Formats: sequence, structure tokens, C-alpha cells
Amino acid sequence: MQSLGVSAAAASVAANAEATAKSGRAGGSDGDAPSVMGPNPIDLTLTVNGVKHAMKVEPCTTLLEALRLHAGLTGTKEICDRGSCGGCSVLIDGVLAVSCLMLAIDCAGASITTVEGLAKADGTLHPLQEAFIRHDALQCGYCTPGFLVAGAWLMASTPKPTLPQIQQAMAGNICRCGTYTNIFNAVLEATGQRPLIDGTIA
Ligand code: FES
Ligand code: FES
Repeated sequence: MQSLGVSAAAASVAANAEATAKSGRAGGSDGDAPSVMGPNPIDLTLTVNGVKHAMKVEPCTTLLEALRLHAGLTGTKEICDRGSCGGCSVLIDGVLAVSCLMLAIDCAGASITTVEGLAKADGTLHPLQEAFIRHDALQCGYCTPGFLVAGAWLMASTPKPTLPQIQQAMAGNICRCGTYTNIFNAVLEATGQRPLIDGTIA
């Protein structure tokens, strides 16, 4: 599911890039060759959790690096840095994606949601965050932001996901501490369903 998310996000970003190119913002007037960016740092503004973050980044900067090092949003974790663990999961225009495989400059104009954006402005946690706490769905907690973003993404489209749907949605997320049962139970409870006991729904 994670790779599907990446593909969909890439399509979304490609559509944005096409729109940008047509508007002439990046490539000059219609028909002009696209302007070359870099190798020096360029000005970039990213919209993250509804807030605009202006930064100066090298064109090779990943979205993950831009979030953590330039926007100061360290909830999104760098673990494998190669698209294999889901620790850096974010939503790009509502689509699940691994931010370590996205270039920050390709996300200009997109609406990005990180784990910091799941809670409401008044600090009220997302129902899934509450359920993670109740179910102790973490040990070291390093994978937790990625699971929360993937779970929130699933809940936005599927109000009562089945266990296989939950497992599928989180198939791109790895927990080295092995807290999967508690994580699945948190999603089940957050969507008003009974928890797992001995691997089956009670
Ligand atoms: S850090 Fe991005 S998928 Fe692992
Ligand atoms: S809680 Fe440690 S990796 Fe998941």
C-alpha cells in the first residue's frame, strides 16, 4: 500500500508540476525551456499542516530533510532513508507517501500533512493517537509517527476498516519492536470495533 501511495503521490506531484509549467511559474513563458535550478540553494515555500514554511534548499533536498532540518518538524522520522520502512510517512495532498523518496522542490504548491498535523490546533489528539496511548501501541516509538499517519490516512477513506485492510494500509510500515497487535487494536478501537485477542477479532 505504501508503494501505491508513493505512485499516487508522484502522480499528484506530476500534475502539480504540469500545472506549474503551464502557468510559467517555473519554466518561464509557455514554450520556453524549463529554467535550471541549482546547484546553489534555491528559495522554496512548503505548506505543511496549513502553515507556510519558507526555506532555502539545494534542489537535491528530500522532503524529509526539508521537514526536519528546515521546517523544524522532527516528528517525521528518518530510519532507512530508502523507502523501505514507512517511518517518514506523510500525506501529500491527502495521499500517503514516504518523504525520503520525494524531492522537496516537487512538493511546492502541495498541501503536506505530517504527524504534527494530526492533532487539532487546540491540542486535541486525533482519535488514533488517543487509541495508541490506551493500547500502549509502541515501545521505542520511533516507528509511531509513520504508523499514525498511515492509520489516519486509512481512517479518512475507510471509517470501519477490516483487519486485512488495516494490515494492507500499514504494509509499508515496519516496527522493529514488534508492536503490531497493539497497533492494529488501536486502529480497531479508534474505528469503533472490537480488539484482537490471540490474533483474531474478539
Ligand atoms: S525513512 Fe523513509 S521509508 Fe524509511
Ligand atoms: S515501537 Fe520501536 S520500532 Fe516500533
